[in-house]
Order: sequence, then structure tokens, then C-alpha cells
Amino acid sequence: MTLDTKRILVTGGAGFVGSHLVDRLVGLGHRITVLDDLSTGFRKNVCRDAVLVEGDVRDRELVRRLIDETDACFHLAAIASVQRCLAFLEESHAINQTAFVGLLESVGSRKGGVIPVVYASSAAVYGDTDVFPIYENLPLCPISIYGADKAGCELHARAAGRTKGVPSFGLRPFNIYGPRQHPSSSYSGVITVFVDRLRRGEKLTIYADGLQTRDFIHVSDIVEYFIAALGKASVDAPVCNAATGKETSVLEIAHKLSEILGHEAKIVFAPARTGDIYRSVADTSHAQTLLGVRASVAVAEGLRFVLER
Ligand SMILES: NC(=O)c1ccc[n+]([C@@H]2O[C@H](COP(=O)([O-])OP(=O)(O)OC[C@H]3O[C@@H](n4cnc5c(N)ncnc54)[C@H](O)[C@@H]3O)[C@@H](O)[C@H]2O)c1
Repeated sequence: MTLDTKRILVTGGAGFVGSHLVDRLVGLGHRITVLDDLSTGFRKNVCRDAVLVEGDVRDRELVRRLIDETDACFHLAAIASVQRCLAFLEESHAINQTAFVGLLESVGSRKGGVIPVVYASSAAVYGDTDVFPIYENLPLCPISIYGADKAGCELHARAAGRTKGVPSFGLRPFNIYGPRQHPSSSYSGVITVFVDRLRRGEKLTIYADGLQTRDFIHVSDIVEYFIAALGKASVDAPVCNAATGKETSVLEIAHKLSEILGHEAKIVFAPARTGDIYRSVADTSHAQTLLGVRASVAVAEGLRFVLER
């Protein structure tokens, strides 16, 4: 299936990543339906040329009807907060995993035949590995409820490929940043939080020594991963990292932001937070081979985009 497709369903399309994906798909000339309950997404994020269906991905009848009426599906709806998943375990499991199983079931029994599904998994499926760069064949070893549900989605996608012929592709994004990421969301990356603090003239809090690293990827690059993955969805249910392959420390982010703003940000150090991993950087070679995609926005440039917004 290529992007000649005309009708595309994007679950979670009112959220941070989903709304950027919708903008791009509309720009490519597709007819987009967004399914979102607006729990963390916003109506204003949804491009006016897309149709917003305000509803729940757990609503089996609604999902079945929308799947019947579409030619491809991007599934991003989720409780994308590690902390909220921990606090509301059953609810988050129902949204992050069971709803996806229901969606796969709807695709597998779709009246007009199966359609490709590209879904957001997460780098959280790796847990706290000490192998770097992190590559796809490492064992699934999540240490959070959120990561466990994402790992479950990958396993179900594979099973749905085998048993119901559902073609899928799973992406494991690392730390995404960019416009429309909400600073108050507990999943929000440090970049969005820092920029928000700097705009308010507040100090930056850095946990631990600040040398902890992340693989920060700009949302525009993630969108290209999603689009490329649609053409590669298959019953083998491939998965790959969605990242830059570059490691940047939290302290470097603070310094780069200061550089761009032309004044040194005030930093306070706080004790390390329980559960925070120290290092994260992806191996992107599998993604390059499989999808032919490579992230193009360097962190310094991405930070400028975020600050200029
Ligand atoms: N942001 C990141 O760094 C990152 C990293 C790895 C994976 N992901 C994954 O990417 C996807 C998008 O994340 P995001 O950062 O844009 O989060 P987000 O919270 O901005 O977007 C999620 C969207 O899903 C919607 N939603 C939640 N529950 C729903 C339900 N029951 N029914 C319908 N809609 C529902 C929300 O309203 C929101 O619009 C998620 O699946 C997330 O797990 C994000």
C-alpha cells in the first residue's frame, strides 16, 4: 500500500504528534478522519480540512465503522504519560493495549478487506538497557506500565498479521519535541519544559548531574517516519526505532537554549528522580534500511524552531 491512499483514519490526531501527522497528510491531498476523545489533545490542533470524530478508541462499534470507511490507519491515541499509566493502570491498559487489539480485530474483519495500520509503540519497550546504541533486536524489557502495554501492542500486531492477515508497522519513537507539545504533560520532554520555564523567566531544574542523555527527535522528522512506514506495513509486523541516533545531555540542552537566547539560563540541580534512565540513544540503521528515512533536524536547529514559535 502506498500513499495513493485517499481516506485515512488517524487516532489521537488532536494530540501533539498526531496533529502534525494530520497536517502533513492533508497537505499530501488525503481525506483525513481524526478519532480523538480530546483528553490530552485539542480541537484547535486539528487541521480544518480534516474531520474530527470526538470519540473513544475503546468504543468498538465506532472504531469498526471508521475502519470500514477508511483505506489506511495511523494509530497514535494513547495515554502517553508513564506516570498517569501507573496511577490508572486498568484504564491505561484498556486504552493503550486493549483498544489497539480491538482496532486490529476490526481491520482483520473489515468488510472490504484488510488495510495497513501504522501505530506508535515507544522506546519504552526497551526499559533500562545498558547496551548502546539501542537496537531493535534487544529483548523487550519494559520497566513501566506504559512500556509494557506498548510491548503488548507489538506482540498483538504480530499475532494479528499471522492470524488475520493484518499488515502493520510499529514505530518506537525516542524523545519527540516540537510545537504543540504540552509543557504540563508528564510525558513532555525536557526541551518543552525548559522552553516554557525560560519564557516565564523561571529557573531550569536539572535532576541528577545533567549529564544524562536522550535521543531528541523533532516532530517533523517523526512525521516522515510515520509516512514512510505506511508503505512498508506487512503481515510480518515490522518495528523500528524512530530517532536521530545522536545523544544529547540535558545540560547541553540548557546551554544551547541559553546560547540561542543570548543569556545564560539559571539552573538549579535536584536529586535524580526514581525511574529516570541515565542514557538513551538509538541505533537508526535498521530504520534507514527498512524505511529509507533519516532524521534531518539537528537539535540546535530544532531548538531554534521551538523558540521562534
Ligand atoms: N511524545 C513522545 O515523545 C512519544 C515518544 C514515544 C511514543 N509516543 C507515542 O506517540 C503517540 C502520540 O503521543 P503524543 O506525544 O502526541 O501524546 P498526546 O497526548 O499529545 O496525544 C495522544 C492523543 O490521544 C488522545 N486519546 C487519549 N486517549 C484516548 C481515547 N481513549 N480515545 C481517543 N483518543 C484518545 C488524546 O486526546 C491525544 O490527542 C502516543 O501513542 C505515544 O505513546 C510519544
